Amino acid sequence: MPSPAPFAPPAPSTSSAPSAPLRAAIVGTGAIANSHAAALAATSDAELVAVVDRDPALARAFAERWGGPAVFDSLDELLASGTIDVLHVCTPPGAHAEQSIAALDAGVHVVCEKPAALSLDELDAMTDAAERNDRRFVVVFQQRTGSAAAHVRRLFESGALGRPLVATCQTLWYRDPSYFAVPWRGKWSTEGGGTTLGHGIHQIDLLAWLLGDWASVHGGLWRLDRETETEDVSTAVITFEGGTVASVITSAVSPREVSSIRIDTELATVTVEHLYGHGHEHWRITPAPHVGEADAAAWALPDLEEPSGHEPLLRDVYAALRSGGPLPSTASDAARSFEIVTAIYSSAATGRTVTPATLRDDPDRMRSLESPVIDLRRA
Ligand SMILES: NC(=O)c1ccc[n+]([C@@H]2O[C@H](COP(=O)([O-])OP(=O)(O)OC[C@H]3O[C@@H](n4cnc5c(N)ncnc54)[C@H](O)[C@@H]3O)[C@@H](O)[C@H]2O)c1
Repeated sequence: MPSPAPFAPPAPSTSSAPSAPLRAAIVGTGAIANSHAAALAATSDAELVAVVDRDPALARAFAERWGGPAVFDSLDELLASGTIDVLHVCTPPGAHAEQSIAALDAGVHVVCEKPAALSLDELDAMTDAAERNDRRFVVVFQQRTGSAAAHVRRLFESGALGRPLVATCQTLWYRDPSYFAVPWRGKWSTEGGGTTLGHGIHQIDLLAWLLGDWASVHGGLWRLDRETETEDVSTAVITFEGGTVASVITSAVSPREVSSIRIDTELATVTVEHLYGHGHEHWRITPAPHVGEADAAAWALPDLEEPSGHEPLLRDVYAALRSGGPLPSTASDAARSFEIVTAIYSSAATGRTVTPATLRDDPDRMRSLESPVIDLRRA
């Protein structure tokens, strides 16, 4: 049973009135759950009504911070209560598939933190559960949001910048050894992968959101310093169907941290350099020498600025869920960047270039990303 007052659960009902906000719950009340609670508080389309964590004290403290939603003892009890419309899955990656599928099978929409799963097999099962229950399954890639990213994507889609030719994509982050002391981190069985799956996936996802479908991946996994089973650095060359080649590096051992994408098109260089989120000041569009001033001026970022983040993502997701309309592009195609990341692991394991057609021919990598890591550590 849920804990007694002051965290009384909302009265069960079979459905929300159309005009009522959607009833949201969070499972996993750790660090990132705060970004979800803040985003939910910012939209009138949602109301945080319940939370659950395997550590009840954490859940209670979280509930006190975020307006007193009901605290349940287990996800099973929460789902059986019939009191929610949307579950936010903010647990470590190893729990995402089971919890998301349980919620979808209970008729609840799911908003799941990245990385969505430990493997493509798991992600496929989650997508299947959404389809068979006619529910929505959203994976959080909040770096797709923000007015600058939307503007640049429109420029690419319209062809205003010409064909994208060459790109670099860097996630150079620093995670000291204590970061990996958390029990679920650094292990194939609980984190699923290393810095590529856990960190690089954000920039890889944004790159693919801007450039479209991928055509091939050749990658390698490296362990340079940290005491982990998984990689602390990866390198990859990705080609896209539109004819762009990208060099991608992801690192957890880089003291001056940066997240960056650079795309050189026929007419301009587009760059974004930030760390965990971007506003207009992080983006730059530099015209090629032959581009006239008036043409370049037409590419200027809009006056109205919205930074990237969970807030715009969840606002647009809830508006779609409430209206029954399609999910925004910031919340669709969750599998694409997971496929690219899986292809990096698959390529590292086989030494081969991986394509969308051959990706699913690697049953080991479909089940788990566990792959050989080249160890360059020195004693
Ligand atoms: N989108 C982003 O920018 C972003 C940033 C940080 C983390 N994340 C992702 O969010 C997820 C959680 O990361 P975090 O940093 O918040 O972790 P965390 O360790 O701070 O929080 C996880 C919480 O889940 C609880 N928990 C663990 N297993 C559970 C289970 N089976 N059932 C119920 N509760 C359980 C833990 O007690 C803890 O409170 C990860 O997938 C991570 O990659 C995303």
